[in-house]
Amino acid sequence: MTNKTAFVTGASRGIGLACARSLAEAGARVVLGARDAAKLEQAASGIPNATWVEIDLASPDSIKQAFAKAGRIDILVNNAGITKDGLALRMKKDDWDTVLATNLTGAFLAIQQVLQGMLKERWGRIINISSIVGEAGNPGQANYVASKSGLIGLTKSIAQEVGSRNITVNAVAPGFIETDMTASLSAELKESMIGHTPLRRFGKPEDVAAAVRFLASDEASFITGHVLDVNGGMYM
Ligand code: NAI
Repeated sequence: MTNKTAFVTGASRGIGLACARSLAEAGARVVLGARDAAKLEQAASGIPNATWVEIDLASPDSIKQAFAKAGRIDILVNNAGITKDGLALRMKKDDWDTVLATNLTGAFLAIQQVLQGMLKERWGRIINISSIVGEAGNPGQANYVASKSGLIGLTKSIAQEVGSRNITVNAVAPGFIETDMTASLSAELKESMIGHTPLRRFGKPEDVAAAVRFLASDEASFITGHVLDVNGGMYM
């Protein structure tokens, strides 16, 4: 990936940070994007050839400004995501809107920012981080699941729009990965999830990063519109 620039959203920790590290190891110049400048600076300082830019995926203006600062991007990893869980019956519209705006609309707007450059270059890789629940559904997460299923539809549509220009668009659907997002789940729930996972363990951020790195590589140049499960077999 030498001479390629990758932009990873939500790169200050967890899966995004692991993706940034892995792409840098593969030779890419990496731009880390997230909201907290101090955390970004710290994260980027540990990665060779990395810079950072503040971006709030819930704000269309912030997205525009961040990509203007970052310059031309060859590889976009739409990783930033949030949850605001609750049963549908009682879910506040605000919680629906915020999750959809960040996880789905934010990813779409980021894609819009990088497409022109990729079309000109006739090379590009877009990788959207969906989720196992975007494929299987999950009670209590109607907003999050809708956003993650939406990312799969977005992936397949853009893949068809830009395939003729040598731009691939794929999704990665992680299962249960040990990060801040899942740290607060009860021990009981974690046990039960391991019980439903054929590989009998949780995933690590690096497991997801390896799939992202592959999809970003030249070796994956004939793969597009695909959803790659990284879930230990929990959903097949
Ligand atoms: P995390 O909560 O540790 O990290 C999320 C990252 O997104 C952070 O860097 C955070 O600052 C950033 N972020 C959140 N809202 C943002 C906004 N408005 N603007 C910019 N950045 C924002 O989560 P984790 O686990 O690393 O998740 C990364 C992605 O993987 C998310 O899209 C998540 O939905 C997805 N995922 C995670 C799974 C897991 O088990 N941890 C399973 C399936 C999918």
